[in-house]
Amino acid sequence: MSKSVSNLTAVLPSPGSALIIQERAIPSLGSGEMLIRNRALAINPIDWKRQVYGLAVSSYPTVLGGDIAGVVVGVGPGVTSFKPGDRVLASAPGILTGNSDHGAFQTYTTVMAAVATKIPDNITFSEAATLPVVVSTAAIVLFDVLGLPVPDPESTAANTNPTKTGILVWGGASSAGSAVIQFARLAGLTVFATASPQHHDKIRALGATAVVDYRSPTVVEDLLAAAREAGTPITLALDAISTEETFPLVARVLAESEDASAIPEGVSVQWVAGQRIWKERLDLGSLVFNKLLGKWLETGEVVPAKVQVVEGGLSGLQAGMDEVKKGVSGVKLVVELDE
Ligand SMILES: NC(=O)c1ccc[n+]([C@@H]2O[C@H](COP(=O)([O-])OP(=O)(O)OC[C@H]3O[C@@H](n4cnc5c(N)ncnc54)[C@H](OP(=O)(O)O)[C@@H]3O)[C@@H](O)[C@H]2O)c1
Repeated sequence: MSKSVSNLTAVLPSPGSALIIQERAIPSLGSGEMLIRNRALAINPIDWKRQVYGLAVSSYPTVLGGDIAGVVVGVGPGVTSFKPGDRVLASAPGILTGNSDHGAFQTYTTVMAAVATKIPDNITFSEAATLPVVVSTAAIVLFDVLGLPVPDPESTAANTNPTKTGILVWGGASSAGSAVIQFARLAGLTVFATASPQHHDKIRALGATAVVDYRSPTVVEDLLAAAREAGTPITLALDAISTEETFPLVARVLAESEDASAIPEGVSVQWVAGQRIWKERLDLGSLVFNKLLGKWLETGEVVPAKVQVVEGGLSGLQAGMDEVKKGVSGVKLVVELDE
């Protein structure tokens, strides 16, 4: 970087306290890393959970946040596919590393080049910032936990001929659920989802064959009927909400699916750890972020969440986290940082 710069940061000083705006040193660059001048940051439920409950915080002060979009200003040793000036989205790995240089909620963040994507011209910084965490999650759900094959990066066509494997995405209007629906369609699955009625058209457009209102007293029966109509038993499921209320309903759909042979030992459950994308599954991260996502965004195979901008830049992050904690419906909250 040529001129003097300041790294204004929304710092979490101590457990449960409010974010405060402070100056931090510009993050340092390691091998395989890039320094990003952030232009948009998205807020995820895990951010307020880390603030309130201290989840995945090893020391204080710390810098929260996982979703960034911005411009590359420096590349570390070994980074060949990005250069200063590139517009990128990236998954900020601070929750895994505990290193505040890797937290999103600041002006500059260091990220791993393997888990970053050049933003195509049809996508804004704010739209791009909605993607990294949920793309990581969708990749881990489908291609790690469920072990499905990753779509061929060389193939140009969308999957227009879904297989007879059905997946239920409970909470299809959530950011994570919407990403899983799109990736599941690209992986050739037939997708069933639950959501509030006002989101049904949108979720069908993302690739779901049928969408059911999760507040319906017959939601399980409605999903099973939709699967029968499609001729595709539901043998896989993601519970993107994972509460005491949702979990038994998801299990019932799987257990009562007509193709009981697909779940011979009953329903097997695995928790999703999206942070595997930066360590154990960096290979998968690189495949999805470096090779597939940019192309899918350019062609519209994958679309970002609907953006709701929270005013105030870094100073707006606390209000945004408070709003996400109260609950949002079908939108991703984003703060924008001036050039
Ligand atoms: N383990 C991981 O790696 C990982 C990664 C990412 C997220 N997560 C977790 O996944 C959850 C979702 O995150 P997110 O960012 O996707 O959340 P989000 O976008 O803030 O979720 C809001 C949506 O949840 C839906 N919803 C709420 N209650 C529901 C219910 N009972 N049944 C169905 N849908 C319901 C609402 O749908 P309607 O608008 O249709 O009412 C709303 O649109 C959070 O708990 C988050 O911490 C985990």
